[in-house]
Amino acid sequence: MKALIIYISVHHGNTERVAKVMTDILNADLLQVKQVATSMLEQYDLIGFGSGIYFGKHHKNLLNFVDMLSILRNKKAFIFSTSGLRKIQFIHNFDKPLKERLRRKGFDIIGEFSCRGLDTYRVTKLVGGVNKGRPDTEDLRQAEDFAKSLKNSGASYLN
Ligand SMILES: Cc1cc2nc3c(=O)[nH]c(=O)nc-3n(C[C@H](O)[C@H](O)[C@H](O)COP(=O)(O)O)c2cc1C
Repeated sequence: MKALIIYISVHHGNTERVAKVMTDILNADLLQVKQVATSMLEQYDLIGFGSGIYFGKHHKNLLNFVDMLSILRNKKAFIFSTSGLRKIQFIHNFDKPLKERLRRKGFDIIGEFSCRGLDTYRVTKLVGGVNKGRPDTEDLRQAEDFAKSLKNSGASYLN
């Protein structure tokens, strides 16, 4: 029984740092979205999907990848992200587009994790960015706790 984490982390590698911590805890395989063929998902029971947040959503390559999947049965998923701003219901609800896509493909979403990441986009660059140093050790500890909670809630489908 196996877990896979699929991610894309293009701005500062923020989400990659989170993905690596989760990978260790879940004893998962870790692949960038460009390395994954849709057919590969069949062999996994739990699949994590993560990226930075771009224009209020997960990265478009990750969303497009999910759109290409066929309907899958008996697959559990979790999602994660790093972002400049926190999630705000209705205004900046950045998990929604990915969650909707995964549900359409038949995934059972069992967890969501997000933390802040260094953001130097546009005007923030003038002051050296916002969220400097993040994800920091506390963010990574929380990512670890999140992965442990997934493991404890579904021990039967993880190594
Ligand atoms: C082009 C661009 C658009 C972004 N849009 C958002 C956004 O809509 N909301 C937000 O909270 N952060 C936004 N950010 C900040 C990133 O989500 C944040 O820096 C994230 O940690 C980047 O993750 P990565 O280094 O893994 O790619 C944006 C950054 C860039 C470069």
